[in-house]
Amino acid sequence: MEPCKYANLEELHAACADCQRCALGETRTKLVFGVGNPIADLMFVGEAPGEQEDLTGTPFVGRAGQLLDKYLYAVDIERKDVYIANILKCRPPKNRDPLPAEEDACIDYLREQVRIIRPKVIVCLGRIAAMRLIKPDFKISVEHGTWFERGDYLMTAVYHPAALLRDPRRREDMLRDMQAIKAKLDELGGN
Ligand code: URA
Repeated sequence: MEPCKYANLEELHAACADCQRCALGETRTKLVFGVGNPIADLMFVGEAPGEQEDLTGTPFVGRAGQLLDKYLYAVDIERKDVYIANILKCRPPKNRDPLPAEEDACIDYLREQVRIIRPKVIVCLGRIAAMRLIKPDFKISVEHGTWFERGDYLMTAVYHPAALLRDPRRREDMLRDMQAIKAKLDELGGN
């Protein structure tokens, strides 16, 4: 495992607070660093902040975040016990997909966050995070809920809650995947 460059999340947050590594630094309202338990065994990684997240500086607080909260509640996971971050820390204009160059500019912050938190399980929320963290050809409709070992971490991906808002037919799959994540966490003795 690579050593951490920063002693804790506060130091890392301070180091990226004024980030201008890509053009999103000019258009963001607030940088959305991440939120939650700094020693979480379970970490969720989404795509990028949306409008509400950009305004508040907190990930997953808009409609998609409220749906995520319902799934956490349904499987008896408390939001305060997990850590939630995104591939990008700044909102792409009009919520377009992140550009590869934006991901490249931002990804070291997330990697450093993971090194500091050292979760047992990382759950990608949606295909963008899965393609970046699990494998470039990840197919969310086929491979959601599948477990992958990546270095020190066990990883899986579930549908992005925004996709579930658009297509409620996937909600049963999401509930099953979230139940399996909770079972895996219990099996690993995670918090
Ligand atoms: N969608 C994401 O991927 N991340 C957020 O923080 C909010 C919406």
